[in-house]
Amino acid sequence: MGLLQKLTKPFIDIFVLVWDFNLLLLNFVLPSYKPGHLVPEGQAGHGGKWPEYIPPKEGDSRSACPMINAMANHGILPHDGKNISFKELNTKLRQTFNFAPSFCFFVPKFSADFLDRSYWGGRFDLAELSKHNAIEHDGSLTRQDVAIVPDQAKPDLELVDQLLKEATGTMPDGSPLLTKRDLSLALSKRRYAARKSNPAYTESFFHNMFGSSNSSTMLTIFGGRVNDLTPMLTEERFPDNWEPRILGRFGLTMAAFNATVIPVERGVDVKKIEASHAATEAK
Ligand code: HEM
Repeated sequence: MGLLQKLTKPFIDIFVLVWDFNLLLLNFVLPSYKPGHLVPEGQAGHGGKWPEYIPPKEGDSRSACPMINAMANHGILPHDGKNISFKELNTKLRQTFNFAPSFCFFVPKFSADFLDRSYWGGRFDLAELSKHNAIEHDGSLTRQDVAIVPDQAKPDLELVDQLLKEATGTMPDGSPLLTKRDLSLALSKRRYAARKSNPAYTESFFHNMFGSSNSSTMLTIFGGRVNDLTPMLTEERFPDNWEPRILGRFGLTMAAFNATVIPVERGVDVKKIEASHAATEAK
């Protein structure tokens, strides 16, 4: 990070927190969108219609993030996943997922910082977002650890299947629903398995919180609906007629998001999984 970036970072972070909290308050006061009315006319996803899905071609750049990859697969971001400006990522995130403007600024800015580029004028390829132990970390739910599978661009379908099978909830129409408890259990099992199978495994409070945050989008933006998560996590494709499940005027703020992220992370109990494995092995 350059000197100017270092000096301005604390001020920007405080500004984003205050901004985010104000958006949280505005969301309480202002009426939410009605289902089916979130995405305005002329924008990708209006009326549940997403631009055509084209799977990545040889040479296209993709990241460890299923949702960002899906944006490129539908041409919301450049399909080749290259030379994207951080500012464009901000705007497109806001329009596509109804995350609050504070979040849509904060995460691309965080990415520009770890890539040592300017947020305001810098560009990146999607694969660069997978820099190890920046946001990408060991013990993820949709990718094997980088020491085992260096190419983080594609989902591990077995891991995704294990995750979605954890769903114990049900929607009113009987379809499966992923709950906070399911996600905590999936993260516990996955961190235990990654520790066992990856000699280079590392873990930190910071990366665990990132893991819970990334995966909590499945419960918030996707409302835990397994039928919607399946194409997103396996093919990195938007389901037909999908819209974000967050309908607040200013989208999902970081403050509101924490109401999901914190309980999910607090529910992670790797020791319990370890003990149950030890008990099975002892039999
Ligand atoms: C600038 C915005 C974003 C960046 C830079 C980013 C980056 C990443 C990275 C690097 C990973 C891999 C983490 C790991 O190792 O597990 C990841 C995973 C993930 N992200 Fe994103 N992401 C962004 C926005 C989003 C949004 C808007 C959503 C949801 C709507 C989302 C949902 C997810 C999910 C579900 C995972 C998979 C977590 C797992 O495998 O455990 N991300 N993201």
